Amino acid sequence: TIPYIPYKVKDIGLASWGRKEIELAEAEMPGLMSLCEEYGDEQPLKGARIAGCLHMTIQTAVLIETLIALGAEVTWSSCNIFSTQDQAAAAMAEAGVPVYAWKGMSEEEFNWAIEQTLFFGEDRKPLNMILDDGGDLTNMVLDKYPEMAKDIKGLSEETTTGVHRLYERVKKGTLPMPAINVNDSVTKSKFDNKYGCRESAVDAIRRATDTMLAGKRVVVAGYGDVGKGTAASFKGAGSIVTVTEIDPICALQAAMDGFEVKKMETVVGNADIVITTTGNKDIIQSQHFKAMKDKAIVCNIGHFDNEIDMAWLNKNYGHTKDEIKPQVDKYTIEGKDVIVLAEGRLVNLGCATGHPSFVMSNSFTNQTLAQIELWKHSNKYENKVYMLPKHLDEKVAALHLSRLGIELETLRPEQAEYIGVTVEGPFKPDYYRY
Ligand code: NAI
Repeated sequence: TIPYIPYKVKDIGLASWGRKEIELAEAEMPGLMSLCEEYGDEQPLKGARIAGCLHMTIQTAVLIETLIALGAEVTWSSCNIFSTQDQAAAAMAEAGVPVYAWKGMSEEEFNWAIEQTLFFGEDRKPLNMILDDGGDLTNMVLDKYPEMAKDIKGLSEETTTGVHRLYERVKKGTLPMPAINVNDSVTKSKFDNKYGCRESAVDAIRRATDTMLAGKRVVVAGYGDVGKGTAASFKGAGSIVTVTEIDPICALQAAMDGFEVKKMETVVGNADIVITTTGNKDIIQSQHFKAMKDKAIVCNIGHFDNEIDMAWLNKNYGHTKDEIKPQVDKYTIEGKDVIVLAEGRLVNLGCATGHPSFVMSNSFTNQTLAQIELWKHSNKYENKVYMLPKHLDEKVAALHLSRLGIELETLRPEQAEYIGVTVEGPFKPDYYRY
């Protein structure tokens, strides 16, 4: 084990600011608040020692306090070096949560922080549950502390890229515990990835650059859930948006939504802003950088920074790098300036504050339900990746209706029978795609 450090944050003095923001966020997170009410007495997470690795934002603070209200002990790190809101981390530290996160940490500090979360309290008890976003915590446990796996009852994973890593592990036979894929709950990926990015993508560009978005030519690489939200974000701002895709279905969807679909090489030279959303690597490479026009803005909203070849840029033009402000850097390539945001890491959390609370409440209600299910019923599951059942997906949505004044029709029994469902739901077969 490693020595006990109660927490490490940028400035504990930010705690009261963080607390005020957390209270505002709670009003926008009805899913989490109602789980606290529903399960507060029962304490379904009693005994659980959950290590979490997920952007340490105000919304995540509400998730952490929900898990604690349900009986868990929790430790926390952020899954990105730039995504922590220091006031949120401070508020958690002041509330007694062992949190190890600050905005602008180094890669070394990032790994150090994750490692701190594996051991609980002064008696250094090991974690017995994982809550991950992107798989870095999971990898740390399974690669560096494989002997810990046998006492871990399960893991829940937040994002597309992390889920992808889990299915790879299943294929290779290296997943030693059951996992729940939170990302592919409908109330997660079809809301957070899409409508979340619709709000936070332009927010990031505006906070970072203050550039006028209307009339600008924007290239969005990828038209999955994040790409759909991102393209809509810029369209809403009056930008002229072009999409790139490799999947003919998503390419056709983009066209049906009114976007031009072209190859990157065709459009990159005329772009004012290029943003990658693919979860894939090597989308923006040297030839693209060289073709860009002066003052083009380049950024990524996918989970990892390898969508943009930052290694090439830093190796060949690192000497021209000029920091305009934190997370906004100007490089000069053969006489032309390129503005790179958040060093190629996910821009909405690096240059802005991520998604709004309301949409994160949907994601985190799924997370909490997944943790309860795995903690209480781990033995019902094999070492595979599962999804939450549809009735819980519908429950998550249902918990968010009244905040928006939504009225729901109720099926009459004969109507339910006619479409082959029950009056209480689930209202769709599993193969339905939304
Ligand atoms: P997705 O799988 O729905 O979409 C990715 C799309 O990129 C697919 O349609 C795929 O065909 C396309 N693509 C793959 N290679 C490509 C290439 N070479 N050129 C053009 N298109 C290509 O995944 P999703 O859910 O949209 O997530 C994308 C990434 O964003 C993941 O890394 C995920 O973890 C991350 N994410 C980030 C969030 C944020 O707030 N920044 C929120 C949710 C997810």
